[in-house]
Order: sequence, then structure tokens, then C-alpha cells
Amino acid sequence: MKITLRLIVSLIFVATLVAAIFSYYQVESEKERLTTELTLKASTLAESMEGTISEPLLSNSPERLKNFIERFTKRDPFVGIAIYDSKGMLVDKSANIDLSKQTFKKDIIESSIRNEGISNFETVDGVKIHIYTSPLRRDQQIIGSLILTHNASYIDSRLKDIWRTNFVRLLILSFLIIITTILIVRWSLTGPIAQIADWLKGLRMGKIKHPVNLPRGDILGPLANEVTILVKNLALARASAEVEAKLRAQSESLWTAERLKEHVRHEVGNKNLYVISNREPYMHIRRGSTIECVIPAGGLVTAIDPIMQSCGGTWIAHGSGDADFETTDQHSKLSVPPEEPHYTLKRVWLTKEEEEGYYYGFSNEGIWPLCHITHTRPIFRLEDWVYYQKVNQKFADALLEEIEKEEEPLILIQDYHFALLPYLVKSKRPDARVAIFWHIPWPNPEAFGICPWKREILLGLLAADLIGFQIQYHCNNFLDTIDRFLESKINWEQFSVERQDHITYIKPFPISVAFPAILPAIEPTIESKDVLRKKIMKEHNLSIEYLGVGVDRIDYTKGIIERFRGIERFFEKYPEFIEKFSFIELGAPSRTHIKRYHDLLAEVEETANKINWRFQTKKWKPIIYLKAHHNHETINRHYKAADLCMVTSLHDGMNLVAKEFVAARDDCDGTLILSQFTGAARELHDAFIVNPYDIDEVADAIRSSLTMTFAERNVRMQRMRAVLKEHNVYRWAANLVTTLSRIRINKSV
Ligand code: G6P
Repeated sequence: MKITLRLIVSLIFVATLVAAIFSYYQVESEKERLTTELTLKASTLAESMEGTISEPLLSNSPERLKNFIERFTKRDPFVGIAIYDSKGMLVDKSANIDLSKQTFKKDIIESSIRNEGISNFETVDGVKIHIYTSPLRRDQQIIGSLILTHNASYIDSRLKDIWRTNFVRLLILSFLIIITTILIVRWSLTGPIAQIADWLKGLRMGKIKHPVNLPRGDILGPLANEVTILVKNLALARASAEVEAKLRAQSESLWTAERLKEHVRHEVGNKNLYVISNREPYMHIRRGSTIECVIPAGGLVTAIDPIMQSCGGTWIAHGSGDADFETTDQHSKLSVPPEEPHYTLKRVWLTKEEEEGYYYGFSNEGIWPLCHITHTRPIFRLEDWVYYQKVNQKFADALLEEIEKEEEPLILIQDYHFALLPYLVKSKRPDARVAIFWHIPWPNPEAFGICPWKREILLGLLAADLIGFQIQYHCNNFLDTIDRFLESKINWEQFSVERQDHITYIKPFPISVAFPAILPAIEPTIESKDVLRKKIMKEHNLSIEYLGVGVDRIDYTKGIIERFRGIERFFEKYPEFIEKFSFIELGAPSRTHIKRYHDLLAEVEETANKINWRFQTKKWKPIIYLKAHHNHETINRHYKAADLCMVTSLHDGMNLVAKEFVAARDDCDGTLILSQFTGAARELHDAFIVNPYDIDEVADAIRSSLTMTFAERNVRMQRMRAVLKEHNVYRWAANLVTTLSRIRINKSV
């Protein structure tokens, strides 16, 4: 209350001061205006009388003067008249001038000397009187004086009115100030503070699990954010301590963020980790007048970000967001995640031509279809290859600058965009420990052999100390490829290649997701599956029994069209599910600059429309295709609400959507339909493993999923979650880093 009172008193004091100053100036100017107006009126009147009075005054005709005065005062009883001769003797006067109380002598003399009218005020019996004294002239000679009096009390009344009105205004203003201050203080200060206090108390007592709900832009917002982060950290620390304790109790080999951090510190000391990838983990983009930070879609970012968050270090990536430049410092760096930084992101800038040739061209029209067997022909252009080499060199320079002062730095290169980088780094820094992880499949030698620059790519890769693939099968394909195209010594027992005194180890490291996720104490309201389902159904205007979900970058390798065909076949074969089952596809447009991807967007849309047209009824449609970049929260809600998730890739290194779906199902319900052509199918045996090209098999898998008993769904999901629990992304990183840091390297290569 103290602050409210202080605010009110200060505001009223200022308002009073301002009102007083303004009122004073208003009164003064009104006074001046009314006085001038009255003087003008009196002088005009005096002038008009001068002729009429002069004649009888000169001819000494008091009768005529008397008549004139009587006539005039009859007409205007509020004006007093007195006429004096040239010697200052009273000649005649009206009855409403009291000579015993008013003195005009001084004014008569002064007006005669100055030969002009004089204006004055006098108070008689408490009434303000205006006195106007004017000389009477004939032929330039002063023959007497005329005095006109007016009752001027109305001037004071008018001025008092002004003071009164302004005072009433001030009272109203003060009242409004009091009400407004009380409301603002209650809404914006005491209310939110009480809310935060209640919320903190609830958190302390473990009763609340959601973030405090302050209105957007509230002044306490920054404070609430900081407290939220603090509480979140405490909760995370508490949760990971609990997991660690459980782990010790169960003597399980579960990997957690905390354990990875400790492990990396133990393995590599205080060395930094350097990650290089094309796609950045945090991208700044312009939306109207604001800048938004988005997390790009794709498995690479999903997997590596949690590791960098727990181990720290520097991640070098292409700055591809349209607001990336203004969000970095002069060294092209920024700390991420923006709301709670854990590591450094260094952005590399590419020209349009470089992006076109290296990213769209050689990486995504060349190597991507070369490594994915999906019957999309790779395109190899010489100019793209030139840009690919140039950009690899650009990233090598950016990295070399970072590691200049670090001995035996630990470098984790990501993916097919940087096949030449191991060579470019090792040739300058043979002491560096370099691993490259190939997130996508590696084809057999026949398929790979069509690449015109296969030797350069293989030599670039072999400069690494460690090459990681998702599964053993891709390691075998790689060694077969080396065997076919390069002269080298392959050790099939320890899976290594020796060439010119340098040994490269080739090993499978199946990538995964951060699981079990340490649930923060505060997360956007945790809703039960039923509530979520109802909400999602309402959002999409659905009234169905069963819900399916698919989450993909719109890429021809993901088998989205095959999936839709499988759904079409399902309704053909099992029409009893019409109006009972719908499928939501959350598709993020990707690489749309490439014609094949651009055309695919239209193809996917067209296929969904065709199937919808065929089966839809007035109140239902089979496929809801939501083409947009969806954030993690939206994706998670759909995972949790669905009965089944479909992953039907035609060829996929791992596919983290499958693992994310399983990780999201803490209710141990829901089924996964998974393509046999994904790396994930080698681990998640309790999914319905299908051949996406076989639409009957897909249709049957959907039916089996929907008709399976809860008990069986539950057992399958529990088994898949057990696999993930053990083989999570922390284990992946720990294995990769451990293997790399223990390799004996030849520093003179
Ligand atoms: C795959 C690749 C990643 C890539 C991701 C998204 O998962 O292995 O390297 O980042 O797709 O593709 P994009 O071209 O958008 O980076």
C-alpha cells in the first residue's frame, strides 16, 4: 500500500502544480482581456458623447446637460456620468455616482495633461467600479472632463469562475489518478507479484509443474523468465540426480546428459569439442518486424544439440537464416541456446552461388540421391563440384582458425556435405583428432561408382581418424567401396583402412534421441492423452476413434506418397474404418529450391487431395496434410495424442522420428509402423516393420495396429522404450568421443 500512496501523492502533487500554474496564466490573460474590452467600451462611449456635451457646456446650459444625463441614465442605468468644467468644477452628474466615496480629481488632472482618456478601478462598498476619465475638447481646447463609471464586478466573478472550474477539474483528475494508480499497481505489480509468490510456493512444495502464466509483455516478465530458468535448472539437476541415484541403485548402464559430461571431461580433459555441420542448430529468421529463433527440422540437429548442450564447445555451421547476420557478433559467433547459453555457434557465410553449387547442387542433387537408393537419379555438375571443394575449404579455414591454439583438438564433422573436410584439416593439423559421422546410408560400390569424383571423396574421408555410420551394413558397403576403388590395406577384423601410414577406423554408431528426457519441473502444461486428443480433434474439426500421425521433412526418401497410398489401400480393404480413422501428416517443406523437391510438394498435396476426394464424407476426411515448419511442442502433442505413427522411408540412415515417437509415449501406448529400409528398424523390433512399396502390407499394418489390444501395444511400447533408454544419444556421443580420443594418431601424417 505504501507504494500506491507514494505514487498517488506524487502524481496529485504534480497535477496540482501544473493546474495551478495554468490556471494562474489563464486568469491573468482573461483579466487583461476583460479590462481592455471594458476600457474600449468606455472610450467609444465617451467619444460618442463628446459632441453632445461640448455644446451645452460651452454655452453654459446646465438644463440641456441635465436633460442629456437623465435621458442617458434612463437608457443605461448601469453607467454613471459626471461632467466637469475646464477648472475641474463639477457641472453635473448622474445619480448613480457617489462623490462622497469616489475621487476623480487626480484622474481629471492627469487626463487633461496627457490629453487622453485614463482608465482606473476603484472599489466602492465592496463593488468593483471601472472609471474612465476623458478630456472634453472643442477646437483643440480642453473645455472640461467627462467621467464614465461602469460596474466591473463581473470581471472578478468571471475570474473566480475560472478558478472554481479548474479546481473541480483538478478534483476529478485527482480522483482518476487515485483509481488508475490503484488498478495499475494491483494489475501490474501486486497481482503478478502475489501470483509469482504463490507459484514459487507451489513449486517449492512440488504442487505445480507449469510455468507461471503472466500476460505477454508484463513488466515482471523478465523476472519471471529468469526465475523460470532458475527453477528449471534446479529441477533438472534434481531430476538428473534422481536418475543417477536410480542408476546406481539398479547398477544400470544408462547414459544421461550429466554422465556424458563427466565422461567427456574424463576422456578429453578440458578440451573443447568442435562440431561442424552444414545445418545450424539455431536459425534466426525475420517474421514481419520481429526476429524469431527457430530450430530447423532434421535428425542431425535433434541429435547433436543435446550433446553440445551438455558438453559445451563450438559448433560451426552455415548461417542460412535471413536474420542470422545481425544476431552474431563481429566474429560471426553467438551463444546458444539463446535463452540459456551452453555452447558457441560460429556461423560461416556463403554466397548465393556457393550455396547453390555446394548445398543444393553437389550435396543434395549429387551425393544425397547417390547414397539413398530411391530411384532418383543423382546429378553431377562440374561447377557444383568446384563449389563443393571451395566451401569445404571455407569451413576448413573457419575451423583451423578456431583450433589454432589448441593441441590435439577433438573434431566431429557431420554428414555428406563435408567429405573433403577431414583431408583439408588433417593436412594442416595432423595432431587433430578427426571423426566424420555419415548420417545417411552408404551405398554399395556399384551404386557409388557412378560418381565422377569418387576417388577424391574417398580420399577426403579417409584422412579422418574415425568414420562413423549408422549401421554395420553401411560400414561394410564403405569398406567394399574402398576395396573397389582405392589401393589400401583393409583390416576386416578391426574394421580399419590403412593408407600411406594413416589408419582410419570405420565403425557403426547408431544415432538416437535424448531419452529418457529429464522432465523439467516446469513445462507447458502436461495434458493427459485424452485431453490432448480432444484438443487436436477440435483443432482439425475431427470426430473419430483412431488417429494416425506422420512427421517428416518433405523429402522423396521419406516415402510420403507410398504412405498415403497405403492409407488409401487400408480404406479400400477395410471400409469399416471410414469416418473412424484419420491421418495427420506434419510435413516440413525442405530444399524446395531443388526442382525434385519442389515437384514433390505438389505431388504429396495432389495425392492427399485425391484420396480425400475419394473417401471423404460431409463430416470427415482421411488425410489432414499440414505443410509447415512445426515446432517441437506441436510435434510432441501429436505424437502423444496418436494411436499410431507411420515412418515409411524408402531408404533412411536411421530416422529419428521413429525414435522420437517412442520417446514421447510415456503412457506406453501407441504403435509404430516402421519401414524396413530405415536404420531404426534394426533396433525397434517391436514396431510393425513394413516394406513401404508394398501398399497391402502397409494397409494391413494399419489395421493390425488399430485392432491390437492395449496389453500387447503396451508390451511392445515398453520394449521399444527399453531399447531407447539404453541406446540413447548420450551413449552414441560417449561411444564416438571415447573411440576417437583413444585412437593412437600419427601426428606426422
Ligand atoms: C538429414 C541430413 C542432415 C540434414 C537434415 C535436414 O537428416 O542427414 O544433415 O541437416 O537431413 O536437411 P537440410 O538439408 O534441411 O539440412
